[in-house]
Amino acid sequence: MIFVSAALNAAHAGGDPRRGAKIYGACAVCHSLEPNMNLTGPSLAGLWGKKAASVPDFPRYSSALKAKDFVWDENTLYAWLADPSAFVRGTYMTFRGIRDDKARGDLIAFLKIALVPDGAKTVVAQGLVPAEEARGQAPEPLKIAAPDERVTAIRHCKNTFFVTTADGKERPFWEMNLRLKVDSSATGPLGGKPVLLPAGMQGDRASLVFSTAAEIGNLIKQTCPEQ
Ligand code: HEC
Repeated sequence: MIFVSAALNAAHAGGDPRRGAKIYGACAVCHSLEPNMNLTGPSLAGLWGKKAASVPDFPRYSSALKAKDFVWDENTLYAWLADPSAFVRGTYMTFRGIRDDKARGDLIAFLKIALVPDGAKTVVAQGLVPAEEARGQAPEPLKIAAPDERVTAIRHCKNTFFVTTADGKERPFWEMNLRLKVDSSATGPLGGKPVLLPAGMQGDRASLVFSTAAEIGNLIKQTCPEQ
């Protein structure tokens, strides 16, 4: 076993963190390097030496990963990133893996810097990745929304949502074009104050973000006053 580890270490020794940072772009779609920023996947901050599936406040781990009893180090990461679903059968990480040993070695060289406590700040300061990429696809803070985003009334009639915003405008959306979302985290809107976010260029699609799931039922009124 010691032999195998030594061979693995040799295989990815001396990776290039700069090249690895480019590869990390594929991970930033689902992960943040910032602590406590759990997105599609758990925050990767301070991962070295942590037991698998042990990030606090990440409720979406697969039972497959939770059942594993290993710690994240170079060797486990090297095997996981080659083919996640082969290393942990039944994982929820839908990422096909990086088969190329050299590319994986480069990525691990980057992760060595990025996944220590405060690593997000270091990789941004060193110019390895832009701040947005270290942050990942964390939602924009919605506590302070512009008047044309701040929703004051929502009604549903036939197959249409009519959304009124603080600028006094009412806009109709075909019900299939309005995505109802909840951001109950610190970035989410104030209670009772959903936020309308345009999605796409045409203006006919949008997301409506609520601060709790219960608000969806409570704030949408079923009325067709024009009838
Ligand atoms: C499509 C979304 C997605 C992508 C892309 C993705 N991950 Fe993940 N990742 C997840 C999810 C979801 C989990 C939780 C898996 C589970 O519970 O089975 C996870 C788990 C992990 C874990 C285990 C964390 C822990 O707490 O034990 C590591 C490490 C990891 N990902 C690293 C990466 C790296 C590095 C990349 C880029 C090469 C990457 N991931 C790409 C979604 C993704």
